[in-house]
Amino acid sequence: MKKKMPKASITFVCQSCGATHTKWAGKCAECGAWNSLVEEAPPPPLGGGARKRGRGRPFALEDLKTLDKEPPRRPTGIAEFDRVCGGGLVPGSALLIGGDPGIGKSTLVLQALASFARTGGSAVYISGEEAMAQVRLRAGRMGLADDPVRLGTATNIEDILATLDTSDPPGILVIDSIQTIWTGAIDAAPGTVAQLRTASYDLVRYAKSSGACLLLIGHVTKDGQIAGPKAVEHLVDAVLYFEGERGHHFRILRSVKNRFGPTDEIGVFEMTGTGLAEVANPSELFLGDRNSASPGNAVFAGLEGTRPLLVEIQALVADAAYGTPRRAVVGWDSGRLAMILAVLDSRCGLGVSGHDVYLNVAGGLKVGEPAADIAAAAALMSSFSGKALPPDTAFFGEISLSGDVRPPPQAELRLKEAAKLGFTGAVVAEGCRAQIDGMTLRTVRQVADLMAIAGCDDDKIRRKP
Ligand code: TYD
Ligand code: MG
Repeated sequence: MKKKMPKASITFVCQSCGATHTKWAGKCAECGAWNSLVEEAPPPPLGGGARKRGRGRPFALEDLKTLDKEPPRRPTGIAEFDRVCGGGLVPGSALLIGGDPGIGKSTLVLQALASFARTGGSAVYISGEEAMAQVRLRAGRMGLADDPVRLGTATNIEDILATLDTSDPPGILVIDSIQTIWTGAIDAAPGTVAQLRTASYDLVRYAKSSGACLLLIGHVTKDGQIAGPKAVEHLVDAVLYFEGERGHHFRILRSVKNRFGPTDEIGVFEMTGTGLAEVANPSELFLGDRNSASPGNAVFAGLEGTRPLLVEIQALVADAAYGTPRRAVVGWDSGRLAMILAVLDSRCGLGVSGHDVYLNVAGGLKVGEPAADIAAAAALMSSFSGKALPPDTAFFGEISLSGDVRPPPQAELRLKEAAKLGFTGAVVAEGCRAQIDGMTLRTVRQVADLMAIAGCDDDKIRRKP
C-alpha cells in the first residue's frame, strides 16, 4: 500500500487580492490576475511559536454606557485633513491612506506632520521609498525644513520598532509606504501579502500599546484597490483615499471607513508648486471657469458628506457617426446615464438614444449622488436643443424610471450654498419646501417639465425614438 503523504501546510496567496489557494495556478480564481500566486508558509500562531495552551484569565464584562465622552483627538492643524478624520487623529488608532502613485500622498502626510510638529507635537516620518535627501529636498521646497519632524529611512520592521523603543512614543508616526516594509520573522519576499499583513499587524499593535497615531501609506493597484486590501483594511481603524485626475490640480481626500468618525466626508486640496493648498470653498473652484452661455452645461447643487458642493455637469449629444452610438462618461456612472437616456426617450419622446452621448463632470470630481439626475438630464436636453440653460440656476432632484422627480435630503443646505455663490435660481423637485431669500425656485414634478427649461419644447426638436 502507498504510504500516506504528510498533509501539506503550504498555501498559495494571490498578491493582487489576498485570496488563498491550496494549489498553484497560473490565474487567480478569485480576481482573475495572472501569475500572481506566491507560495507561503502558514503564519506562525499568534504570540509566536508553539505555546502550551494554559488557562485563560477571566475579564469583566461591562455595559454600553461610555464613561469618557468623546475619544480625545490630535488635530494636525490641516483643517481639511482633520475634518475627514472626524476632527483629528485618535491616539492609538491606525489609519490607511491609499492612492495612485504620484497623486501626492507623501506630500500630504509631510505637511500634516510638519504642521503637527510646529504646534509642539512629536512627529516621526519613516520613509521606505525615498532617500533622506529626497524627503529633505521636498520639505525645503515646501518651506517646512525648519519644522521639528524626525525623519528616518528604513524598510525593516524590526529596525523600525527598535528605533521607536529608544525614545518616547511619537504623537504621530508615518510609514511611507507599507508596501516597502518587510519583516525577517517570516519567509516571504518583500512586497508580498504575507509581509504586508505581518508588518501592518506589528505596527498597529505598536500604535495600540503606545498610544501613537499611526498613518500607513498604501499604493493602489491599477484596478483601484490597495495592493492586498483585505490584508490591511480590516486591521486599521480608518481608510482614506486620496484621489484626483492627473491632468487636474484638485485632489480629494475621501474617507471610506472610519471607526471614529463619519464616512463620505471629503477634504479638497489643490496641488501647487509649494505643496498642497487647502480649498476651503471647493464650489468656487469647481465652478471657476464655467461658461453658462453655452448649451449642455448644468450646475448641480450636490452634497459630499456634510458639505454642499456645486459642480458643473457637461453634456454633448452629437449625431452618431457609425452604427452603434457611442457613450462616454467621466466622473459619472455609465449605468445611470443609460437610465436617464432611456427615461428621456420614453417619457419625453426625445430621440437621444440614437446619438453619441458624452457626459463629463468638470474639475475631475466623481458624482455618485442620485440627486444629480436632473442636472444631467437638463444638460443633455440643453445640448440636444442647442439652447443654453437659464444662467445662475442650480439643479437637484432624483429621477425615477417613471419619470417622476423626487427631492433629495438637505435641500436647504444646497440652496444656501448656491445663494452664497451668487445663484439666483434653482430647479428642484415639487416636494421641496426650502425657501431662501433672493432665490427663485422652479419646481418640476416630471422629467418632461424640464423640457421647457432646456428649450426642448419646440416641436422641431422632438423626434420619434
Ligand atoms: P508625492 O507626494 O510624491 O506622491 P505619492 O507619495 O502619492 O506618490 O507627489 C508627487 C507629485 O506631486 C509629483 O508629481 C510632483 C507633485 N508636486 C507638486 O506639484 N508640488 C509640490 O510642491 C510637491 C511636493 C509635489
Ligand atoms: Mg510617496
